[in-house]
Order: sequence, then C-alpha cells, then structure tokens
Amino acid sequence: MGKLLLPALLIFGFACGPGHNKATYLALPASDQAKFEKYLILGKEVYTRKCQNCHQGNGQGLRGLIPPLAGADFLQHNQHRIPCLLKFGTNDPITVNNRVYAPQMPHHPLTNLELAEVITYINNSWGNEYGFVTVKQVDARLQDCSR
Ligand code: HEC
Repeated sequence: MGKLLLPALLIFGFACGPGHNKATYLALPASDQAKFEKYLILGKEVYTRKCQNCHQGNGQGLRGLIPPLAGADFLQHNQHRIPCLLKFGTNDPITVNNRVYAPQMPHHPLTNLELAEVITYINNSWGNEYGFVTVKQVDARLQDCSR
C-alpha cells in the first residue's frame, strides 16, 4: 500500500466506513484506539487476500460448505482458539450456529501481527462485537495450541 493511501484510509475509512464498533473503540484506552483503527484497515486487507474467497466479503460463508463469520457463535465463544485454528488448521469438524462444517480450512502462514489484524477485523465487522485482539494476546494464545 502506498505511503499516502494508509493515512487517507485511516481518516476516510474509519470516519465514513461501515460503522465499525464505536462502542469497542470508545471502551479502549486512548493508547489503543489508533491501533484498533489500523488493525481494522490492515486486517481487511489480509481478509481480502486470504479469507474472502471462502468466507465471502459479507462474512456469510457458503451455505453448508463454509461457515459464516458474521454472527458466528463459534467465533464469539472460542476467541482463545482462533489464532491456532488459523495458523495450524484443525482436523475437527466445527459447529457454527447449529450447523456442522467439515475441516476444510487450509492453515495460513500468517505472522502474529497479521493474525491480530485479521482477527480484530472479523471480530468487528458485519455487526460482530467480539473485541480487539492484540499481538500480545495472539502470542500467548499460540503458546497453547496443543489444547
Ligand atoms: C478454502 C476455504 C477457506 C479459507 C481460504 C479460509 N477459511 Fe476459515 N473456514 C473454512 C472452513 C471449511 C471452516 C470450518 C473448519 C472446520 O470445520 O474444521 C472454517 C472455519 C473458520 C472459523 C471458525 C468457524 C466460524 O465460522 O467461526 C474462523 C474464525 C475462520 N474460518 C476464519 C478464517 C479467516 C480469518 C481466514 C483467512 C485468514 C479463513 N478463515 C480462510 C474455510 C476457509
């Protein structure tokens, strides 16, 4: 991304964007608010490159094959597992909103920063309000992947 585009996106993207969780933003300490906005923008880029083909731009997934992320109870209630799931994949079926999905998600060689960005993005898009995820939290959660 160009040097000028990012500040422009930070200003216009957030101010006029799809209303990414003002409540989450306001609840953060001032020192984290700018980071939260930045993660939403960079996380969307990761999402567009690596996730959107399957989970779709609107986070609805593909009926019966790919689970939704929008309003997904699994995502909401398994935050501690998401970095491991994305980085290493799983052999287990996953139940999302009462539907069972086969383990067909590829693992993604993302950095911990990219994981924090994309998880923050999916946590705060399409009406989701599942919180801001820091790189520190991703680091800690990745220590626990065997469980
Ligand atoms: C090839 C298609 C594909 C791609 C690409 C993909 N996923 Fe998935 N995803 C799946 C499938 C299939 C499952 C269900 C996995 C299971 O049952 O074990 C899943 C499950 C999930 C879940 C847990 C279930 C839920 O809906 O809450 C999350 C969160 C998730 N994916 C996020 C992502 C993110 C973020 C990316 C990009 C970094 C991504 N996925 C890329 C197919 C994909």
